[in-house]
Amino acid sequence: MNQFYSKHSNSLNGVVKVPGDKSISQRILILGSLAIGTTKIKGISYSEDANNLIKNLKLLGVKIIKQKTSAIVRGVGIGGLSPTTKKLYMGNSGTATRLMLGALCNQDFEVKFVGDKSLSNRNMYELIKPLRQMGVKINCKNNKLPITIKGFNETIPIIYDQKIPSAQIKSAILIASLNSPGLTTIIENTPTRNHTEILLKKIGAKIQIKKIKEKNIIKINGQKELNAKDIVIAGDPSAAAIVGSAALITPQSEIKIKKVNMNKTRITFFNILKKMNAKIKIFNKKEISNEQVADITFKSSNLKGVHLGKKTVANMIDEIPIFSILATFAEGNSSFIGGNELKNKESNRIKSLYEGLTACKIKVKKKMDGLQITGNGKDNIFVNAKIKTYYDHRIAMAFLVMGLASKKKIIVDNINCIKTSFPNFLTLMKDIGANFSKKN
Ligand code: S3P
Repeated sequence: MNQFYSKHSNSLNGVVKVPGDKSISQRILILGSLAIGTTKIKGISYSEDANNLIKNLKLLGVKIIKQKTSAIVRGVGIGGLSPTTKKLYMGNSGTATRLMLGALCNQDFEVKFVGDKSLSNRNMYELIKPLRQMGVKINCKNNKLPITIKGFNETIPIIYDQKIPSAQIKSAILIASLNSPGLTTIIENTPTRNHTEILLKKIGAKIQIKKIKEKNIIKINGQKELNAKDIVIAGDPSAAAIVGSAALITPQSEIKIKKVNMNKTRITFFNILKKMNAKIKIFNKKEISNEQVADITFKSSNLKGVHLGKKTVANMIDEIPIFSILATFAEGNSSFIGGNELKNKESNRIKSLYEGLTACKIKVKKKMDGLQITGNGKDNIFVNAKIKTYYDHRIAMAFLVMGLASKKKIIVDNINCIKTSFPNFLTLMKDIGANFSKKN
C-alpha cells in the first residue's frame, strides 16, 4: 500500500527550491499548444499531473519535447488539435481536466475524458453548465468523469456570473471562448488565482480585467490568434507552504525557499502565517514572466490560533490542510468556514482533515463547511496515528509534516498521491533533516 511514516525530527535546515508552480505549468502547456509558434517553458513542474497532460496533448497532435526542467511546445493554433480515438486519461488532475474540456470546446470532434478514482468522484456540474450554454455537447453520468465532449468551431459567447469561486472553471470558460465570435464576460464575485488571465494577456489574447469593488469583470473577445512567448515558472507557493510550515513547527529550524511565485492571489496563506506569529521573511522580490517572485525564510515559531472567513479560505483553498496542521501546534483555537469547495477537491478535505485530526486525538469540531481546531501549542500528538489520505496529495504531505514535530509517529496510508504535485517531496524533506521512513 506504500505506507509511510514521519516522526520527531531534531531540526530542519537548508536552502531549497520547490517544483515549478503546478497551475502555471498546466496552463502554459495548454495555452502554448493553442498558440502559433514555439513556447519554451523553463522551470516546469514534471509532476504526474503535468506528465499526464503532456501525454494527452501529444495524443491531440501537439509536439512537446521534454527536457530536464524545461519543455518546448510547438503550438497548433486555436482549433488546431487533431482528433484521437484514444481516451484522455487525466489521472488526478481537476485543473487539467477542466482546462482541457475548455480547449476541446473549440474542436469539432468527440473526445472522452477519464480519470483516477479520486478525480472520477469530483463533480463537474459547475463547469458543464456554462459549457453547455456555449453550445458544446457533453455526455456523462452524475456530472462526473467519464465525460464525452463534442465541441464545434465557434462557441457561443456567454455572460457568466460566477457564484462559486473557482479558478479552474473561470480558466476553462476563458479557454472555451478563444474561438467565440464575440465577447464573453465573466463576473468573478470572489477573485481567484489569475494565472490564465496573465498568460492570455502575454500571448496576445484580447482580454480585459476591470476591478469593481471586490469583483473582477473579465471580458474576452474570441477569434484572436495567440502568439507563443517563452516563459520562466517560479516555485509553487502551495508546495512552499508545506515545506516552510515544517520549519515553523520543528524546533531549531530555518529553511530558505528560493524563487517562489508570489502572485497576490496565491499568498494569502503567507499573510495568515504572519497573523499566527510565524517567523517568516519575504525578500528578493522581483518580476519574472509577468508574475511576482521572491525568496522566503521560515524559522521555528510559537504560533497562535486564527479564524479564517469565507474569502480568505477561497484564496488558500490548497493550503487549508497544512493550515489545519499548524493550528494544532498553535496556542488557542483556530477555525475556518465557508470552505464548501473543499468538499470537491482531490478528496473531501473537510472530511479527510476531520478524520485525520481525530485519529491524532486533536480536539476538532465540524462546522457547516469548515472546522474548529483546538491547538495544543508546541507539545503535540501523543499517540501513534494512522491517516487515511483518500489519495489526496495535500492531505498526505500535511500529515507527514505534522509527524516531524510530534511525540509519536504519524503513518500515512498511501504516499503515491504525492507525486501528482510534488514528486521530489520525500527526498527534499529528508535532505533538510526530515525523519521520514517507509513502513514495512
Ligand atoms: C487550481 C485552482 C484551485 C486549486 C487547484 C488548482 C488551478 O481550484 O484548488 O489545486 O490551477 O486553477 P479552484 O478551481 O477551486 O479555484
